[in-house]
Amino acid sequence: MRSLSRLSFSFLTLALSLSHVASSTSTCYKRELSIVGSDFFEQFDWDTEDDPTHGRVNYLSLQESKAKNLTYATEDKFFMFPDSKNVVATGARGRDSNRISSKQAFDESVVIIDLQHMPYGCATWPAFWSLSQKGPWPTGGEIDIIEGVNEATENLISLHTLPNCTMPQTRLQTGTTVSTNCDVAYNYNQGCGTQVPQPISYGKGFNSIGGGFYALARSKESGIKVWFWPRFSFVPLDVQWNEDTVNPDLWGPPTAYFPTGDNCGYAQHFNAHMLVFDLTFCGDWAGSPSVWGASGCSSMICSDFVDKNPQAFADAYWEVNSLRVYTPETN
Ligand SMILES: *[C@@H]1O[C@H](CO)[C@@H](O)[C@H](O)[C@H]1NC(C)=O
Ligand SMILES: *[C@@H]1O[C@H](CO)[C@@H](O)[C@H](O)[C@H]1NC(C)=O
Repeated sequence: MRSLSRLSFSFLTLALSLSHVASSTSTCYKRELSIVGSDFFEQFDWDTEDDPTHGRVNYLSLQESKAKNLTYATEDKFFMFPDSKNVVATGARGRDSNRISSKQAFDESVVIIDLQHMPYGCATWPAFWSLSQKGPWPTGGEIDIIEGVNEATENLISLHTLPNCTMPQTRLQTGTTVSTNCDVAYNYNQGCGTQVPQPISYGKGFNSIGGGFYALARSKESGIKVWFWPRFSFVPLDVQWNEDTVNPDLWGPPTAYFPTGDNCGYAQHFNAHMLVFDLTFCGDWAGSPSVWGASGCSSMICSDFVDKNPQAFADAYWEVNSLRVYTPETN
């Protein structure tokens, strides 16, 4: 820790000197929201709808979730758990879980999450993502920042849009291009995705190091970028700490870069987004016969596995240290 903070100080010096150079061309973003602990109860709505992705899940209201202690906050932590104690009755909607979306929506912005632990395990499909508040989906776009299924070891960052949004195969990003057509009508809504080629970016590996930081920056001029920094790595100070302003131009190449422009008009495809956390089970992705079959999880069908194995979901929880949103500084 001590040597790490020394590294951080030298980074600060570097960042300060660079900021003079960069200031004429780069945008600074100022803090609009800093959500910690019980702030989540005021800033988010608990969605109780049937899962649009057809999972074996029962999304609870805030009241129900608190009463079952499946949503829980301390002064500096926010937790969401699925039910990991009870067998699900055959006629029930599914396993108890949470899906929450922010009351406010943001267009050009920087979003930083400090995440300690994420849901993981067989039959799980967790996501931290953003979605057009106005919709209807996919109008206004979807940006998946953290997403995966079953025992995946690498995070998939992706966009889902209307037609006419594509990404170049090769671009300035450290992640690996998986697919380039963002149109939801293409290839069964695969989206355009970039995989993070590090087993600590998702699930078991991510949790084993105490997680880390993900940041999203989106602007008309610079497109859509997502960064990942593991907990004990070289994390920019304005990402690590609750600073008043951040400057993503100083963060180095993003993990995933989605350029907008002629290939994908920013204003045509993206508007103000809510931030969403959810955890479903099985459903269109995790439970599709080919994906579930290849997962090596169980010979049961996915929804039976979910119903009968409460203890399999003990590790499928969110533990969030903070979530901050920054918007462009207007001069
Ligand atoms: C709720 O869950 C948290 C985290 O597991 C635990 O620390 C707390 O004691 C629980 N509260 C109740 C009322 O069971
Ligand atoms: C996509 O582009 C094609 C060809 O330019 C155009 O005909 C079509 O209307 C566009 N679709 C949308 C939804 O913008």
